[in-house]
Amino acid sequence: MILTDSLNRPLRDLRISVTDRCNFRCVYCMPKEIFGSDYPFLPRAQILTFEEIARLARIFVRHGVRKIRLTGGEPLVRRDLHLLVAMLADLPDLDLTLTTNGSLLARQAQLLRNAGLKRVTVSLDSLDDGVFKAMNDVDFPVEKVLEGMDTAARVGLGPIKVNMVVKRGVNESSILPMAHFFRKKGYILRFIEYMDVGHTNGWRMDDVVSANEIIRMIDAEIPLEPIEPNYRGEVAGRWRYKDGSGEIGVVASVTQPFCRDCNRARLSAEGDLYTCLFAVTGYNLRNLIRGGATDEEISQAVVSVWNKRSDRYSELRSENTTSLPKVEMWHIGG
Ligand code: GTP
Ligand code: 5AD
Ligand code: SF4
Ligand code: SF4
Repeated sequence: MILTDSLNRPLRDLRISVTDRCNFRCVYCMPKEIFGSDYPFLPRAQILTFEEIARLARIFVRHGVRKIRLTGGEPLVRRDLHLLVAMLADLPDLDLTLTTNGSLLARQAQLLRNAGLKRVTVSLDSLDDGVFKAMNDVDFPVEKVLEGMDTAARVGLGPIKVNMVVKRGVNESSILPMAHFFRKKGYILRFIEYMDVGHTNGWRMDDVVSANEIIRMIDAEIPLEPIEPNYRGEVAGRWRYKDGSGEIGVVASVTQPFCRDCNRARLSAEGDLYTCLFAVTGYNLRNLIRGGATDEEISQAVVSVWNKRSDRYSELRSENTTSLPKVEMWHIGG
């Protein structure tokens, strides 16, 4: 039986945050003023072990999950992540992937590939070091991220997808150079509308550059046409260059919300199950596991959480978004 929520949406995609830590301090995600050296990240004991994650993943797959994405924080700062990948790689019919800031990718790509990872998505907000550093706020150079992507492509973790969050007044000028550069490389660049996740990024609607605006800007230089989604509920809208030189994507969660087909569950590093990127609270699965629950009992909890699910935050987003209680993005991954 297919598991569906109260709006008849199936459960297909599980995004697992493997750590709440990150070696970047992106201004729109973990601003330095708040995430300083004394910030109380989760202690090791509160984070799910690889065995616990793999056990939960098996249960989710039994309920219809077909894609697992490892996220963070930055997933590659979790030690020996390839061991978790190896445990998940045995699950049947699964698209197993990872979203990373790319900083540690060159070093780990081959290990991850050998462990059974299928592909990766790398975040990069600009090709210009000044702009990129203004966004990651730890002086991390563009070149190193590109090296990570190229190594990943070389070891077979492609097609590489690149995520660029666009924030008005900060990296708009990077849209066209990024489009040209990744078209040549053959990587799939996706532009993400800056979202009002969490509380610490001080989001304002004025900061959002809409997907339409981005498409218009690129189309004027390199003509584009829309293409069909790969599957129902795909997050990014797809466009291809008319000359056949590749495709790009736009994630328009602010201006064109896609909650209607949202089939994504999120598991935080400490084992809370969230049914929306903008959820306020999660359902604690760690206590269940550590309290000795059977697979059947955990399974029932998942079913009951999903059956009740009615989230559609982006569709209901109000002007007054910053005053709403929300979970932080780095807490449950993107
Ligand atoms: P693939 O295309 O299969 O690689 O997966 P994907 O589109 O889910 O990739 P990715 O995880 O890179 O998602 C792209 C971005 O879209 C994320 O980083 C988030 O910023 C945003 N996003 C993903 N899922 C959701 C969602 O459920 N709701 C909202 N509002 N935004 C989302
Ligand atoms: N709005 C849009 N995207 C964001 N990401 C992180 N914070 C935000 C935000 N406020 C992106 C990251 C990464 C993915 C996991 O989510 O850049 O590509
Ligand atoms: Fe780290 Fe990604 Fe957040 Fe940047 S967006 S601080 S890389 S988790
Ligand atoms: Fe899904 Fe929530 Fe994003 Fe809507 S806002 S697409 S329900 S995660």
